[in-house]
Amino acid sequence: MKKLFRFLILSAFLLGSVSMQAAGTFTVGSKTFLLNGEPFIVKAAEVHYPRIPRPYWEHRIKMCKALGMNSVCIYIFWNIHEQKEGEFNFTDNNDVAEFCRIAQKNGMYVIVRPGPYVCAEWEMGGLPWWLLKKKDIKLRERDPYFMERVKIFEKKVGEQLRPLTIQNGGPIIMMQVENEYGSYGEDKPYVSEIRDCLRSIYGKELALFQCDWSSNFEKNGLDDLTWTMNFGTGANIDEQFRRLGEVRPDAPKMCSEFWSGWFDKWGAQHEIRPAKDMVEGMDEMLSKGISFSLYMTHGGTSFGHWAGANSPGFAPDVTSYDYDAPINEWGLPTAKFWELRKMMQKYSDKKLPSVPKPPMPIITIPKFELKEFSSIFNGFDGMGSSIQKEGGLKTFEEMDLGWGTMCYFTTLPEISEPSVISADFHDFAQIFINGKYIGKIDRVKNEKSLTLPPVKKGDELEILVEAMGRINFGRAIKDFKGIVSEVTLTATIDHIETTWKPQGWIKVALPDSYEKAADAFVHNFDYTKPEKEGQRLGKKPQWNADGLDLVSKRGYYRGYFNLKKVGDTFLNFETWGKGQVWVNGHALGRIWSIGPQQTLYVPGCWLKKGQNEVIVLDIVGPEQAVTWGQAEPELNKLQLEKTGKHNNPGDKPDLNSKSPVIEGEFKAGNGWQKVLFKSGTKKGRYLAIEVQSTWANDAVAIAEFYVLGGEQERISREPWTVKYATSEEDNGNHLGDKVFDLQESTYWQTVKGTDLPHLLVIDLGSEQQVRGIEYLPRAEQGAPGSIKNFRAFVY
Ligand code: GLA
Ligand code: CA
Repeated sequence: MKKLFRFLILSAFLLGSVSMQAAGTFTVGSKTFLLNGEPFIVKAAEVHYPRIPRPYWEHRIKMCKALGMNSVCIYIFWNIHEQKEGEFNFTDNNDVAEFCRIAQKNGMYVIVRPGPYVCAEWEMGGLPWWLLKKKDIKLRERDPYFMERVKIFEKKVGEQLRPLTIQNGGPIIMMQVENEYGSYGEDKPYVSEIRDCLRSIYGKELALFQCDWSSNFEKNGLDDLTWTMNFGTGANIDEQFRRLGEVRPDAPKMCSEFWSGWFDKWGAQHEIRPAKDMVEGMDEMLSKGISFSLYMTHGGTSFGHWAGANSPGFAPDVTSYDYDAPINEWGLPTAKFWELRKMMQKYSDKKLPSVPKPPMPIITIPKFELKEFSSIFNGFDGMGSSIQKEGGLKTFEEMDLGWGTMCYFTTLPEISEPSVISADFHDFAQIFINGKYIGKIDRVKNEKSLTLPPVKKGDELEILVEAMGRINFGRAIKDFKGIVSEVTLTATIDHIETTWKPQGWIKVALPDSYEKAADAFVHNFDYTKPEKEGQRLGKKPQWNADGLDLVSKRGYYRGYFNLKKVGDTFLNFETWGKGQVWVNGHALGRIWSIGPQQTLYVPGCWLKKGQNEVIVLDIVGPEQAVTWGQAEPELNKLQLEKTGKHNNPGDKPDLNSKSPVIEGEFKAGNGWQKVLFKSGTKKGRYLAIEVQSTWANDAVAIAEFYVLGGEQERISREPWTVKYATSEEDNGNHLGDKVFDLQESTYWQTVKGTDLPHLLVIDLGSEQQVRGIEYLPRAEQGAPGSIKNFRAFVY
């Protein structure tokens, strides 16, 4: 009696304001699910509570209900609840039990997919990074340590959710065992162990299911679990369930992920899927009594560093998880929503609930500057960073760093020729010598090496490596960050190829927390002024004032905006390089100039009247440190060529080994000039023009440039790219590609005061017959920068 009383008190406490509901049942009948014994079609809306700010949870649930859904389907992301081994957090935005109670209050059932692995375009598919501290761990297998941690985690989730199963009067009707294991391997004993773990926590009455593709569900399908299929809009639905019908003719059918849209990756177009295909597919399923979960019904946002990455290859996901879902990233109904609602009404005997008003208005914010700057080195030197001054290379995981950036330093031997540096850099590496930027190595582009200029003994090599999300799909989820192989430098000297493996690395780990970002402004030292002695890793900077690319614009920027009224908005970061953003201490997510996402969603519930703070960590550096709040997001603006100065030393041709097709002198003054090669046509893919002198001894400029083919015709410039330029003045955006942008008012211009000769190399896209060139100097009076002596090469 006493025990029962205690149980009731405890349950009442756990259920919070919601009154105790009667216990119910959810079971699998013949060709249908049974809710309290009655046939029931699951119409579930997939939403992820960590992708929605908590104050908006109820609104989003009501939106799903207004679509005619009777359930919400959620994943549990292990890594957001156990960010440090053994430290669990189920409060605030992580309060999954409260999310379920809000669903129940609104008359919605809940399907829970507690992993341990979930995929979901979420960092490491939901697995905690710290598992990788055990280097040889086998993930998603019966590795003793992995299984031990899984069971501890599932038990903790159970403490939250067990009181909320339908059998205990809560809204949870079903739970998923693992996630699409067929796309990972074949291992029934492992999947069985996950099943048994859930059974031991939730009891044998709770309905358990597996989800997979129709092509591979049998590989791991357990006899006593329900099998459901995942497929996207446009799929042939009968075909998707054909095999299941053969092996289990009496089983209910359910599409546990019907993909409404798709996710976006950095560097690729925004994804869209037609509303018609989605609505028709769901209509067909409902007409055939097939249950479903619409993935995603509302995608939301992968705030902070939580977006994952896909493989094969390395394709990190953008911050927005809009997914082209019926309810958009910021909670509003889309055209898809209205079409879906209309169709869903047909399958409901009651009028669907009205569409709730959004919790906040949309606001705009005028453009403002982020005026405070603190070098990335202030991050290295201040609190929270760990520094190791000796030994070999280490990964993030070995440095106990989950997310952020690491800088690796070492001193070089004398290498009198250009050398090639190679390693596996995860994920975005920038290479510097004595603080001067040499180039980047981008895992997204499958890059692994870069050519360095000749170096002197004692020159310092600095490698700044930023991690993006860990891979969330396939075997590649074991995705260590930082420099994950040895580093080699290879050069050919006197015809002999020599390889160096630099040793003695200093390693600095820079976490990407807000606390760290704010702290950088407390210890704000100006590293661009060498006369001021700094703390730089305990040493004084040894670099020249003009060689400080590493510290002069890479770092933290802080600014403020004032509000009279709060609301949702989209901060624009298209003038920035690459990094992360915090508003009033909330991590908004990653930015990257290449797009397609150029704005970040700022929920109004994280803003306040009066002054609001924005901090950006830009590891590349902005063109302009400004932002503004827009009323709509920009999710589809690729700026792939934008960041690019074309000064990768590896792309510089060796002109000594080539003979020019022409050597000559252009006339002074404005207007087009044309020169033909005396020797006739020359075949080649690249055209290099070397400027040896200008008429006014000023910075070189070219407004427009053509290459003439065999018949002296201007060949198409469509496929052209700039392969290399010795110098490009990028403040005013005077990059090399301005010579073929069809605009006579835009031009390539070298940085003032840099030494001649200057070189511009154009990649013509494919091999061409070249007969001559045409050149247009700047249009202004006196043709500033106009070329006098030049040489051209075709190769
Ligand atoms: C699979 C996974 C989901 C998600 C989708 C794609 O179905 O189970 O977690 O990754 O792919 O969005
Ligand atoms: Ca131009």
